[in-house]
Amino acid sequence: METSKPEKPLYLLRQRPPAVPGLPVLGNSLNMLYDPLKFLVDQYHQYGSTFRIQMAFRDYTIMAGLEANKFLAQEGEQVFSSKSLFGGMADAFNTDVMLVLLDGAPHRHMRKLMRRGFARSAALPHLDTMVQIVREAVAEWQPGEMLPIFNTLRRIVVDQLGVMSTGFRPGEYYDDIFFYLNTMLNVTAVKVWPGVMLKTPRFRRAKGRVMEFGGKLLDYHRQNPPESTGREPNLIDDVIAGVRPDDQPFTEDDLLAMAVGPFFAGMDTVASTISFFMYTLHKHPDVLEQVMAEVNAVFAKGSITAQDFQQMPVLHAAAIETLRYYPATPFTPRQVVESFEFGGYEFSIGTEVMIAQTVTHFLPEYYPDPYKFDVTRHLGETAKSRIPNVYAPFSLGAHTCLGAGLAEVQMLVTMAALLYYGQFALESPDYKVRVHTMPLPNPGSKFKMRFGGQRHS
Ligand code: HEM
Repeated sequence: METSKPEKPLYLLRQRPPAVPGLPVLGNSLNMLYDPLKFLVDQYHQYGSTFRIQMAFRDYTIMAGLEANKFLAQEGEQVFSSKSLFGGMADAFNTDVMLVLLDGAPHRHMRKLMRRGFARSAALPHLDTMVQIVREAVAEWQPGEMLPIFNTLRRIVVDQLGVMSTGFRPGEYYDDIFFYLNTMLNVTAVKVWPGVMLKTPRFRRAKGRVMEFGGKLLDYHRQNPPESTGREPNLIDDVIAGVRPDDQPFTEDDLLAMAVGPFFAGMDTVASTISFFMYTLHKHPDVLEQVMAEVNAVFAKGSITAQDFQQMPVLHAAAIETLRYYPATPFTPRQVVESFEFGGYEFSIGTEVMIAQTVTHFLPEYYPDPYKFDVTRHLGETAKSRIPNVYAPFSLGAHTCLGAGLAEVQMLVTMAALLYYGQFALESPDYKVRVHTMPLPNPGSKFKMRFGGQRHS
């Protein structure tokens, strides 16, 4: 009788993936502190699709490359859980229906409920207000001032997110929203700050203020429903009208968590991406010049509309290339909940995995000369741009960013408005940005640009 042969000899499956050498105690923590993506791309070239690193006293198995991305897209939901990443945050919000944390049918239920509120179409009615928010900020800056780009943009981005998802600009609540969310991310998700940070009076005060803001949002939407006011329904209206995956009504804590969710999802990711976008454009004056021509033509006719995005192909290409080169969420940390085999190794239950889904952004077989910032990759009909399972700044599979379309609109409008209303310059033409890591890759507070004054008022 014929027996089927296992694809790999069993003794190979029992071995652990190779460990990347690191420092005693610190392991690879320092490697991951600045430009971790470059570090993982280099390790991928040396070790292949599966290897281990040690970071912040934890062991992570890295999965990278096209096969890893396909695996995340197809199998991720069955075998991985996000609990170790987002469980602490859900506990702090006292909710068990956080979208990022759910899988299977409950996840599909919540994703469907929130789809419209996070869609690209949710951003489109607010283009003028988003431009106005930038315009007001630009009018406040002093010519010659060195602007800390990431922090400055975060304030703008939070105001815009408020308008798009909740109908309100958080304004005076900004400092509390930032402090609360940043502390939560660093303590519960990235786990680089101690838990005691969640007990400080400053944190409690910020939490109280954020919940007060969330409560006001819910009250307003309950008292002014779209049916009686003619308002377009937004995310808050949709969740107020919805039910939990078990058909029960949402608790007030569930609703509060969902009301402030957009700030969580978009604050750092969008602000970081636009910061790198400012850098890439000003680092490449030839591209900036083409973008300026597009932006001037669009703004010359008054306001910006959804159709205008097609009139700004270079701006769009530069945004896609910036997301390729500087993905704000380059990795997907997960815990194994169902054992599986990948790359010739067995992944047992409980293994901490990091799928480095953007390593593919730097593989020359997909993007030739990958460390060149090149917008022409994304221009023209034959452009090989967003290659499926290769281009993954918004991750892959069941948990793919639900706000990707909205985020892209926000990036394009904000960038266009910044360039139209203001003038900016890098500290020097040879300035090179450094990618900092915590809580997400960002250009750090030292990345400053000189504000040259208003171009238009
Ligand atoms: C450039 C900006 C952004 C990037 C790079 C980004 C990236 C991502 C990534 C990688 C995930 C998957 C997380 C995981 O699987 O653990 C995700 C999830 C998500 N993002 Fe974004 N995001 C961005 C902006 C936004 C914005 C502006 C919103 C909405 C306001 C948003 C809403 C969401 C939601 C709701 C999820 C959860 C999806 C789910 O679990 O099913 N994102 N995002």
